[in-house]
Amino acid sequence: MEVIILPTKEECAYLGAGIIANLIRDNPKCVLGLATGSTPVPVYNELIRLHKENNLSFAEVTTFNLDEYIGLSADHPCSYRYFMQEQLFNEVDVDLNATHVPNGLADDVQSECESYEELITKSGGIDLQILGIGSDGHIGFNEPCSSLSSRTRMKTLTGETIEDNSRFFDSVDDVPRHCITMGVGTILDTRSVLLFAFGEGKADVISQSVEGPITSMVPASALQLHQRVKVIIDDAAASKLSNIDYYKEVYANRP
Ligand code: F6R
Repeated sequence: MEVIILPTKEECAYLGAGIIANLIRDNPKCVLGLATGSTPVPVYNELIRLHKENNLSFAEVTTFNLDEYIGLSADHPCSYRYFMQEQLFNEVDVDLNATHVPNGLADDVQSECESYEELITKSGGIDLQILGIGSDGHIGFNEPCSSLSSRTRMKTLTGETIEDNSRFFDSVDDVPRHCITMGVGTILDTRSVLLFAFGEGKADVISQSVEGPITSMVPASALQLHQRVKVIIDDAAASKLSNIDYYKEVYANRP
């Protein structure tokens, strides 16, 4: 893991978006794995700026989102499809037919999950996966105790996640209890990962994921097994790491 600590989330977003933009410029047909929630928003804002001001084109890019709530339609304001349209897709030149978010209204959830995995494989696999992290250590919606080799499937959200995500809904009772999420194994198969975390509220879980043991109780710790992960975090999210000085020295003296 490469741990990159910068003073602010804006600087993290600028760096992360630059890495994504370089990938798109090198390989315009690349496949991106996308996340929702608050964390990637500044990264998407910077990508939109690069599209509008620096001719960054998404025209040939394919995208796969990590997850979707079961029971919410694409036009529900709290669905992750809706979020992606608002936060990124409607602002850039991506071909909407090449954007994929699990269908939260699928009649047959199992076959929706299998097809999602097949589509990722048919697209050649994910070149770069963007991740946030839940306060309980989830990536995608792989809650604690998720198999570290899991594939796309239905999961039940923990009380902590429901509480955390209730800020996007009118009330905690409106948060769906179930979702479809790529598995930890699906995420580990991606060619590279950018994990972002901002703010003091993520400090404990970042320390457990980066410096703690690999355990299904902290699904993000499985990223220690991935060969190309950049953990891009602000000072506040890094504040509980033991080796802050070392990570900063490595980054300052990178070849
Ligand atoms: C969302 C997702 C989740 C979020 C996580 C953090 O697609 O996969 O793992 O990244 O819940 O959410 P925020 O960024 O809102 O703190």
